[in-house]
Amino acid sequence: MKPARLAAETFRSLHGRAPQGVWSAPGRVNLIGEHTDYNDGYVLPFALPHRIAAAAAPRTDQLLTIATLGSDGRVQRAAPVEIAALRPGSPGGWAAYPSGVAWVLREEGIGGGGADLVLAGDVPTGAGLSSSAALECAVALALLGLAGHSDTTDDPPGGTSGDARRAEIARWAQRAENEFVGVPTGALDQAASMRCTAGHVLFLDVRSGATEQVPFDTARTGLWVLVIDTRAKHSHSESGYGDRRRGTERAAELLGVRALRDVAPPGLGAALDRLPGELRPLVRHVVSENARVVEVAEHLRAGRVAEIGPLLDASHTSLRDDYRVSAPELDLAVDLARTAGALGARMTGGGFGGSAIALVHEADRPAVEAAVIAGFERERLARPRLFTAVPSAGAGRDRW
Ligand code: GLA
Repeated sequence: MKPARLAAETFRSLHGRAPQGVWSAPGRVNLIGEHTDYNDGYVLPFALPHRIAAAAAPRTDQLLTIATLGSDGRVQRAAPVEIAALRPGSPGGWAAYPSGVAWVLREEGIGGGGADLVLAGDVPTGAGLSSSAALECAVALALLGLAGHSDTTDDPPGGTSGDARRAEIARWAQRAENEFVGVPTGALDQAASMRCTAGHVLFLDVRSGATEQVPFDTARTGLWVLVIDTRAKHSHSESGYGDRRRGTERAAELLGVRALRDVAPPGLGAALDRLPGELRPLVRHVVSENARVVEVAEHLRAGRVAEIGPLLDASHTSLRDDYRVSAPELDLAVDLARTAGALGARMTGGGFGGSAIALVHEADRPAVEAAVIAGFERERLARPRLFTAVPSAGAGRDRW
């Protein structure tokens, strides 16, 4: 059943009435541009068909109630909280993500009324596919919708009036994660969830916020993006994400630039000479990765999809050897996919576990999938979850 319908039906059975509306937001795959977002650089994500839906109705008592339907069919309910009592860190746990969004909207002077929220979805969690951002964006749209701000939710991404608003909502959702949950992630995930459109990758210049919808019609080209969820759990709060981020910020400071985005590839060698040894590989990754995003976007604009393969490979090598955020399971998935005929493969998302992607010809897909599954079995690792990802729609209101 679709997440929107599931959320609506669960809402009805928990609350004995229909929700006022259902809003949902997608997870994402980042085609390329990893760890560039908090360096003011470029990213190139697309939205997954997998979504998280929030069924919602207002309450008159200023309380926020949140329930979530797990993939095992069980409902988990958070203790009701007063919107006025929300503060960073409280509540913690899974309820922090939706509560953080309610907190940001309260701080912004929008919404702030009580609400019943019921969440359901099929974005794999802990897989580096941005289930947290999907949840935050769905909740933001739901709370805004209840507060009568249906402008955004009814206006699709890519349109002129809605897009600035969508960018703003993405920033609010990111702020919920940074300040309320306390995870120092960049702008990529929420921007992807709010601003991607079906059949396109989103070229986003994180510094200016400017976007371009670049056509990426996988079915038409006969090439597929195969997602390999390695099931090696990834978590930003426990990973070296914050260390890497601080390293790049320190490097920018030492180089006297606002962000590493300002180091152009021709000046890379000279910049590296001015840095302590431990920061050099981080800078090399960010500067070269930004250049790769630009190159991939150029190929896609010209319809040369197969030619992005080597750039995906180079991105993985750089993330593995220079940025050091890969994991043995990710390296294995990438190697197996390439050996079995993928045109290119890389880890996607923050790393330290999670998912890899591989670009494969339709005809090679069964062989690549079989090779990956067999290879994981040989290493006695958990069976990876594989699916092809079609660039799908951004967040919005659902009819269910
Ligand atoms: C995670 C973060 C993003 C981004 C990526 C790495 O997904 O949430 O902001 O930094 O890692 O590209």
